[in-house]
Amino acid sequence: MKVTVVGAGAVGATCADNIARKELCSELVLLDIKEGIAEGKAQDMMQTATLLGFDTKIVGSTNDYTKTANSDVVVITSGLPRKPGMTREELIGVNAGIVKGVCENILKHSPNAIIIVISNPMDTMTYLALKSTGLPKNRIIGMGGTLDSSRFKYQLSQHLGCSPSDLNAVVVGGHGDTTMIPLISKATWNSVPVTKFLSAEQQEKIVKDTMVGGATLTALIGTSAWYAPGAAGAALVESILRDEKKLFTCCVALDGEYGQKDICLGVPVTIGRSGWEKIIDFDLNAEEKAAFEKSAAAVKSMNDVLATL
Ligand code: LAC
Repeated sequence: MKVTVVGAGAVGATCADNIARKELCSELVLLDIKEGIAEGKAQDMMQTATLLGFDTKIVGSTNDYTKTANSDVVVITSGLPRKPGMTREELIGVNAGIVKGVCENILKHSPNAIIIVISNPMDTMTYLALKSTGLPKNRIIGMGGTLDSSRFKYQLSQHLGCSPSDLNAVVVGGHGDTTMIPLISKATWNSVPVTKFLSAEQQEKIVKDTMVGGATLTALIGTSAWYAPGAAGAALVESILRDEKKLFTCCVALDGEYGQKDICLGVPVTIGRSGWEKIIDFDLNAEEKAAFEKSAAAVKSMNDVLATL
């Protein structure tokens, strides 16, 4: 198996590191447009191989896509990350051109690849990848909800004083500070609704803190968040390559599911060897449905900006 990670910044390099540590593939290509960065990080990671005990071969490449040939999965992290105070949506102008170009280059050498999109604004970049490549919809997966759901579980665990691994909780909708929808009504702690243990104020705070999870980190770190988005990308690669069929929230093309069409938006899906395989209907309540519609409208208007670029 072969995986390519495009973009060797904080998120891309962390994603590559996680993939190598888990030995998800025999070869991993890290590609970046900046001279030497990918080669340097690939070498540095390879020098951890004997320490961490992995055999995945990591190859760095400065924009040479021939090295990425015959990748099974490609993770796209390239583009500008947001700076403190910026929204993900403000990146659309620059990142649309970058993501479109990366998709073209990737498919020239790996026509059968499954593409995972992390670049922001993630919902619109996923839609752009789908439209510009014309690939079957199951092969285009936006990562956002996987990360947001993990952040949601972290916030819940802080209030419940429990292990995040004992929680089931998902965030659907867009991957934006105001478009994501943490489904607290459906979150459980080993099958018991978390709402049983949390006051209304706590619930409100958990939802709010989840929604600004990325912005909080950007303010603290000064650049894009890095470990969690990288790990979320690697978790999707793992479910694909091992055909785990795990349920993640991912941004995928909707064709009537959740009442939406002609949009890529975060919903619960199984992830396996064919990419995203099945959308699961979580029966949103009236309030959640209204929030989902609002989120879809915001993402659609961002998608409309693509035509003006
Ligand atoms: C985040 C970015 C990667 O939420 O979208 O951290």
